[in-house]
Amino acid sequence: MSKHICTRWAFDLASWKPTLSQLSQAVALIQPEERVRLMKFHFIDDFLSSLIGRLLMRKYVSTCSGLELHQVKFARDVRGKPYWVREDINGPPLSFNASHQGNMVLLAGIIGEANDPDFGIGADVMKIEYSGGKSLAEFFRLMNRKFSAQEWKHICRVEHNEREQVKAFMRHWCLKEAYVKELGVGITVDLEKISFSVDTTHPLEEKVTPLVGTSLRCHDKPMDNWHFEEHLLQEEYCAAIAFRNCLPPDHGRFKFLRIEELLVTSPESELEEVQSYCRKALLKPYKRSQKNKE
Ligand code: COA
Ligand code: MG
Repeated sequence: MSKHICTRWAFDLASWKPTLSQLSQAVALIQPEERVRLMKFHFIDDFLSSLIGRLLMRKYVSTCSGLELHQVKFARDVRGKPYWVREDINGPPLSFNASHQGNMVLLAGIIGEANDPDFGIGADVMKIEYSGGKSLAEFFRLMNRKFSAQEWKHICRVEHNEREQVKAFMRHWCLKEAYVKELGVGITVDLEKISFSVDTTHPLEEKVTPLVGTSLRCHDKPMDNWHFEEHLLQEEYCAAIAFRNCLPPDHGRFKFLRIEELLVTSPESELEEVQSYCRKALLKPYKRSQKNKE
C-alpha cells in the first residue's frame, strides 16, 4: 500500500462571528445550487457549518490542483457525496470528505497516485456529549442494533463511568460514520455487522492524538485494507478518519484555519444579489439564542 499525502483541517465556528463582507466573500465562492440549499436551514449555525465545509473543500482542491478558489467545481453523487469535477484528467487523484457538528467543521483529504486511483477517505466529527431527554441506558437500548456485541462490551466496560461511556459511544459512532462516508452509502449498511476494535494502547487525549491502532471487521472478516485515525479536538470533539487502500505517511493532528485563509476578495462578493442573500442569512437565529428564549 503506497503512502499518500494527507491534509487535516479544522475550523472552530465559535471563533467566527461573520460580518456582511466576509459572508459575501464566502457566498460568492460557492455554487448557486449550494446557495439555494444553505438558505433552507432555519438556524444560522447550520448554514455556517455547511458553508465552512464547502470552503474547506474548495481550499483543499485549490491547494492540490493549483486552480483558483473560484474555479473549482463540485458536484454531488446520487447519495449526496460531494466530489470535484475536474477538467484535467492528468493530475493525481484526490479524495476528501468534510464533516461538521456543533462548532466544529473539519476536512480530511488525501492525494493518491495516478496509476492507482482505487482509494478513498471518509471523515466524521462528533461532540462528546449526551443531551437527549432519556437516560443514557435507555438511549443505548434504542441504539442496540447499531453496534456489535463486542463494541457494546467496550462502550459499557465496568471501568467506564457515564462520561466515559458517552465518549466510547461517540468514538465508535464516529468511526462507523467515517467508514460509511468513505463508501458514500449513507445509512444503508448493516451497522451491527461492522465492528471496530478501538486502540486501547492509549486513552484518546488531545496531546497523544491521533490514535492509529483501531481495526475493523465486517461480517467477521478483517478489513486489512482500511486504516483509521482517531483524534480528540478541544477536549470535547472526537473525530475519525477512515482510509481505504491508502495510508498517510505521518499521522499529524488537525490544523485549525482562520476565516481569512478560506476567503478571497472577489468582485462578485460586492454584487447586490450576493449581499442581499447574505443580509437575509444573517437574520437567521442562532441555536444558542433560541435556547436562551426557552
Ligand atoms: N457520503 C459521504 N459524505 C457525504 C455524503 C455521503 N453520502 N453526503 C454528504 N456528504 C458530505 C458533505 O460534505 C456533507 O456536508 P453538507 O451536509 O454540509 O453537505 C458532509 O459529508 C456531512 O457529514 P457530517 O457533517 O458528518 O453529517 P452526518 O454525520 O449527519 O451525515 C451522511 C453523514 C449524510 C453521509 C450519512 O452517513 C447519514 O445520513 N448519517 C445518518 C446518521 C447515522 O445513522 N449514522 C450511522 C453511523 S453509526
Ligand atoms: Mg457526522
